[in-house]
Amino acid sequence: MLNLSNEKDSRLSAEDFGANFIWGVSTAAYQIEGAHNIHDKGKSIWDVFSSKKGNIYQNQNGTVACDFYYRYKEDILLMKSMGIKNFRFSLSWSRLLPSGVGKPSKEGIQYYNDIIDFCLECGITPWITLYHWDLPQVLEDQGGWVNRKILEWFKEYAVLCAQSFGDRVKNWMVLNEPMVFTGAGYFLGVHAPGKKGLKHFLPSVHHAVLCQAIGGRVLREMVSKANIGTTFSCSQITPNSQKKKDISAAKRADTMLNRLFIEPSLGMGYPLGDIPVLKKIKELAEPEDEQNSIFEFDFIGVQNYTREIVKHSFWVPYLKAKIVKATKRNVKITLMDWEVYPPSLYNMIAQFSAYPKVKKVIVTENGAAFNDAVVDSKIKDVERIAYLEDYLKEVKRAKENGLKVEGYFVWTFTDNFEWAEGYYPKFGLVHVDFKTQKRKIKDSGFWYSRFITSS
Ligand code: BGC
Repeated sequence: MLNLSNEKDSRLSAEDFGANFIWGVSTAAYQIEGAHNIHDKGKSIWDVFSSKKGNIYQNQNGTVACDFYYRYKEDILLMKSMGIKNFRFSLSWSRLLPSGVGKPSKEGIQYYNDIIDFCLECGITPWITLYHWDLPQVLEDQGGWVNRKILEWFKEYAVLCAQSFGDRVKNWMVLNEPMVFTGAGYFLGVHAPGKKGLKHFLPSVHHAVLCQAIGGRVLREMVSKANIGTTFSCSQITPNSQKKKDISAAKRADTMLNRLFIEPSLGMGYPLGDIPVLKKIKELAEPEDEQNSIFEFDFIGVQNYTREIVKHSFWVPYLKAKIVKATKRNVKITLMDWEVYPPSLYNMIAQFSAYPKVKKVIVTENGAAFNDAVVDSKIKDVERIAYLEDYLKEVKRAKENGLKVEGYFVWTFTDNFEWAEGYYPKFGLVHVDFKTQKRKIKDSGFWYSRFITSS
């Protein structure tokens, strides 16, 4: 008896989150669209980066990806059949502005108009991310995020998007995870455009911080009744031990991974105290920059997958901190080698909600890649269901404890191109056979569908 009632108590229902809680799925242009050179589309840094040998797992690329460009109706209809009411997708800058700036592409604009109109026809609310990592290559050829001119380029792009789609789209996110595209793309060189070192990283950080606010201001001015956010990657950081050195290493990692981009936007300036080298950002800043980095977002998109255990390391330049790999810790991991650690989501919602100026938090990405088992042609992805359920319990706990969380988007709808890891890690609620492009709802997709429609 006791067992049964316990089970019932812990069962999750969408009702627990309140009637206004937003449920959706998230995607990004380069990961799904394909049609990389249709009409006048320009190349993006991801087209170029993934065409170079050795950059991507098995030298794969997003040339076709999920063929969403041609199959968007099929996918949106599938969403509709699953009761998904909110669809987050990004716009491809080089599809809309083939030369990065200047003459817009008629076909590019038409394509996103068609998607938006079809979503609305299906009763699905579009949530647009302006920038999910696919900078036009022509702009990268002039320095990309390292060149201060990005402030003008980005503004022009944001104006075009607001002008073209703002009459029907009210929910916007300016950037997707600036820490990842600057860190992986301009410091480590493992993502496009493959640049390395501080001389690329620091200016790209500073310009991304400014563009975050520029995009916000453009949308505020041009889109009536806009709900404007921006998104951040974040992970709970736990020190490897209670040694002072590990505790300060964890603090530095937290500053770098979780605080660097949000704090300037809240008017707190850069969190420079813990990591001396960050002070060099000041040398790049013009007098008005601190003020111009501020924007009052309506919501902050928290994107969490895992936590990191961090210890002091003399050998890691600047940060002097090192991540203890989950693969060495004897914990449950996903195909990305990320630890499954649901409380991390609660703790990140708490950390972001704790800033008095953050009005609300929406979990704009959470999900997992596993080896999905196929049994009798059904996709029995029990691990993903367990992952989603356990992380959602943490969102529920956050809500019950009065934290300002008001929505949740699964990463992601269909299996897709997972950046440097190619097509190997599969995060989708829907399986894609990349040879035939056939879609098949996984058990997790049925589960999510039942869950969000149950209230
Ligand atoms: C990104 C997605 C990515 C996902 C899983 C996030 O960092 O926004 O584009 O596919 O995590 O790695």
